[in-house]
Amino acid sequence: MFMASRIQTRAFSASARNLSKVTVLGAAGGIGQPLSLLLKLNPKVTDLALYDIRGAPGVAADISHINTKSKVTGYEPTPSGLASALKGAEVVLIPAGVPRKPGMTRDDLFNTNASIVRDLAKACAESCPEANILVIANPVNSTVPICAEIFKARGVYNPKRLFGVTTLDVVRASRFVSEIKDTDPADENITVVGGHSGVTIVPLFSQSKHPELSTNAELINRVQFGGDEVVKAKDGAGSATLSMAMAGARMAESLLRASHGEKGIVEPTFVDSPLYKDQGIDFFSSRVELGPNGVEKILPLGEINDAEKKLVEACLGDLKKNIEKGVAFVAANP
Ligand code: NAD
Ligand code: LMR
Repeated sequence: MFMASRIQTRAFSASARNLSKVTVLGAAGGIGQPLSLLLKLNPKVTDLALYDIRGAPGVAADISHINTKSKVTGYEPTPSGLASALKGAEVVLIPAGVPRKPGMTRDDLFNTNASIVRDLAKACAESCPEANILVIANPVNSTVPICAEIFKARGVYNPKRLFGVTTLDVVRASRFVSEIKDTDPADENITVVGGHSGVTIVPLFSQSKHPELSTNAELINRVQFGGDEVVKAKDGAGSATLSMAMAGARMAESLLRASHGEKGIVEPTFVDSPLYKDQGIDFFSSRVELGPNGVEKILPLGEINDAEKKLVEACLGDLKKNIEKGVAFVAANP
């Protein structure tokens, strides 16, 4: 009898794990639409919930005609629409917020995006406190701490479930290297650590197949300022959307694979991290092993060379300020 009920429980939790609701907040935007499309193509996603302050039902109707099995629902921009979009979510992606225009830094988005992310984090803390929250909205170095503070204030903060999405930096680094070395970017695994803006983005080429690139100032600069390249080319029409959608979908897929029991899934991501806490820096992006509980293990930086030590040093100052700004915002605007 005891055995039978244990088997039943295991069977139930296995099938429950295979039902994955994924929610996109900001689903009608430049990132939100292609991201939702890619999630609709992911067989691990069984329920796709789309929310935006405008247009989510239309995007959902469109995507719902794609002949994959998942159910797609678009929600009205009301508190109850938002709550329903979030209820039962395993993964929530947040690309809601304004993008840069030429001449702006990501920090220039803070005034608008901080309150957007704060309010969406409140809704997540209320409706899906156990979900994995993937923050895409910029400035990521500040919006992630904002989410953490909101969850902490409500007593539901789980540092293993909060991620700043820095996957695009990794995607770019591997692509840029492959262009220089004439290789397949799929074979280029470049670790990028730190944060997600300018000098806080630190590629560790010494750990790649091409350690000599760690002194290639032009390449390092391109990885650190790859976002600006797109902002400039779009000339006022926003920032990276399509490559970001791919990067966000990859991060969501990695989390789902890990939650479905796959081992050894590692992604660099901006998390509540012990690595630089002694210097007052509570969040840092490094390689993170993912598991059924979100963060399984935060991997140390490992061996880095002197040039990279200098880059990390330059990163820490800005990163600390960005994190403190997010924390101070919630203290002043709870
Ligand atoms: P966008 O303006 O095209 O789309 C944003 C969407 O968010 C819009 O549809 C808007 O209606 C929606 N929105 C605004 N407030 C909302 C709210 N309170 N609730 C729900 N939806 C809301 O912008 P985009 O190009 O999709 O970029 C979105 C954000 O992602 C920007 O902040 C941008 O800087 C950031 N971004 C981050 C990365 C990264 O690597 N992490 C990469 C690219 C862009
Ligand atoms: C990026 O890296 O492309 C994004 O953070 C968007 C931006 O503002 O550059």
